Amino acid sequence: MNCNCTIIAVALVILNLILFTIISFNICWTSVQYMIMKPIYENENLEFNDTIPESCYCEFESNRYSFCYAPPFDLNLLGQKFNCTYIEFLDEVDLLTLENTIDLANDDLPEAPIITAGSDDHKDETREMLYYIRQFWPKHPVIFYDLGLQNKTIEEFKTYCNFDVRKFPFEKFPSYVKNLREYRWKPLVIALAMKDLKSIWYMDSSIRWLKPQMDRYYDMLRCKRSHNMLLTSNFTACNKSDYLLLSSSYHGIYTATNLKTYEFLPTDFARIKIPTVIQAGFSLVARTKDAMDTLKWYVLCALEEECMAPKNSSIPCKFGKDKYQAEPICHR
Ligand SMILES: *[C@@H]1O[C@H](CO)[C@@H](O)[C@H](O)[C@H]1NC(C)=O
Ligand SMILES: *[C@@H]1O[C@H](CO)[C@@H](O)[C@H](O)[C@H]1NC(C)=O
Ligand SMILES: *[C@@H]1O[C@H](CO)[C@@H](O)[C@H](O)[C@H]1NC(C)=O
Ligand SMILES: *[C@@H]1O[C@H](CO)[C@@H](O)[C@H](O)[C@H]1NC(C)=O
Ligand SMILES: *[C@@H]1O[C@H](CO)[C@@H](O)[C@H](O)[C@H]1NC(C)=O
Ligand SMILES: *[C@@H]1O[C@H](CO)[C@@H](O)[C@H](O)[C@H]1NC(C)=O
Repeated sequence: MNCNCTIIAVALVILNLILFTIISFNICWTSVQYMIMKPIYENENLEFNDTIPESCYCEFESNRYSFCYAPPFDLNLLGQKFNCTYIEFLDEVDLLTLENTIDLANDDLPEAPIITAGSDDHKDETREMLYYIRQFWPKHPVIFYDLGLQNKTIEEFKTYCNFDVRKFPFEKFPSYVKNLREYRWKPLVIALAMKDLKSIWYMDSSIRWLKPQMDRYYDMLRCKRSHNMLLTSNFTACNKSDYLLLSSSYHGIYTATNLKTYEFLPTDFARIKIPTVIQAGFSLVARTKDAMDTLKWYVLCALEEECMAPKNSSIPCKFGKDKYQAEPICHR
């Protein structure tokens, strides 16, 4: 993969009609950390000792896979091993071998269905999100993962056109996935949806499309296809990540992430204190090796109790002046 991944906040003018500060373990850690580091270190030609210890491996159908995350800039900096029991789910959603992927240098990026999810207390927001989508795209496929709708709402949602309501399979996952405000369901929804798709938009129900600009973002990935002359806009740099996060935040990563998380996802603390968090709530994801590798660790973190929402994590953040380098005060 010779990709020039990078994570760029695309300054989208999104009117977040609900409070922007709301909550999420919205993190971008896996994605942000991974993608931020990559371009920086890629050219440094560091010598890696990538002898992964025996203890990191999990076995599945007589193949071995390392379940210790190592950041791209130091393959010896191994995180705590994720529980091997999650390997079956990775296999189920085709994230284990990373073979069923596309290559943006050769393959077209197809139009992406919109994936979203919600529980019953978000039904009004979901309707409103859909209203905005339908203004521009009356028939664009939308897949909704039901995180706990009442029967009445399900019946209503099932009458919407090109709106596929799917039950989120809580029974497949550890019981703490039901704690919705730990937002473990988000990467799981994305993984479930992407199993059969080459690309998706993921949107929290708070996202509103105010301009019909999907092509603009497709182009940021389609430009990687060398002979693609049909772009509607031009991105000469063409250096966006295949896991394209679209909605910026207002604080750094370090101050708003429980340190325990880094035991599973080790990082470079100096680097992590610089960039602004880019939210996980709005993304365009292509099923490339790179993006699926990111998603794989994001999913493992979600499934591991102490990775995505370590005990004592507090969602509300009371930032002081320094929103980047101050010691962590919350987790989102
Ligand atoms: C690579 O790592 C292994 C296991 O940690 C260690 O035994 C070995 O000495 C290392 N090799 C080098 C060249 O650093
Ligand atoms: C892995 O998960 C299984 C099933 O939840 C549990 O029984 C086991 O103790 C876990 N292993 C570790 C090392 O945490
Ligand atoms: C909702 O629908 C399910 C399946 O159709 C049914 O089993 C359940 O009893 C219904 N719940 C209520 C409160 O009506
Ligand atoms: C491409 O970029 C140039 C220079 O910024 C600009 O003048 C031109 O209008 C752009 N073309 C399209 C199709 O956006
Ligand atoms: C991506 O391209 C933009 C525009 O040329 C440039 O400002 C930015 O530094 C590039 N990022 C990386 C990581 O190469
Ligand atoms: C978690 O919070 C409790 C009570 O506030 C405290 O006693 C404990 O030390 C904290 N644990 C960690 C790991 O921070």
